[in-house]
Amino acid sequence: MKIAVIQGPNLNMLGIREQHIYGSMGLDQIHEQLKAAAAQNGVELEFFQSNLEGEIVDRIQECLGTADGIMINPAAYSHTSIAIKDALSAVSMPVVEVHISNIYKREEFRQKSITAGASTGVISGFGPFGYHMGLIALMQIISEVKA
Ligand code: DQA
Repeated sequence: MKIAVIQGPNLNMLGIREQHIYGSMGLDQIHEQLKAAAAQNGVELEFFQSNLEGEIVDRIQECLGTADGIMINPAAYSHTSIAIKDALSAVSMPVVEVHISNIYKREEFRQKSITAGASTGVISGFGPFGYHMGLIALMQIISEVKA
């Protein structure tokens, strides 16, 4: 089973940016831990981070035929990007959207996720552990789809 992990803008700054909101773990550290958890379950992860909307759209399109599911934190693009939402709908596969913070407890402009409308489900507010929750959810959904 192969899952693409796609990280949006400014997530390369985790561990540096607003630690009171996003914690002290860097993106590489999060990915290392996630990779280990995935490997224990025979799951292969492919990591990608970009600050550019079009690159994220391209990466999602590449998942067609090469991945069984997508875990994505579109970051600020969650609140603005119809292009990313359309790309997720286009590839038509299990998608889990993850937010490190609880977007519903924050500024009003963060409380609406456009991209979430194209995902199977959303995990928000559990810190970096949310990616582990997303992995478990995707493994379950993908195995149901394949059965
Ligand atoms: C975020 C929440 C977004 O509102 C914000 O723009 C981010 C990170 C999160 O993981 O909590 O960059 O997606």
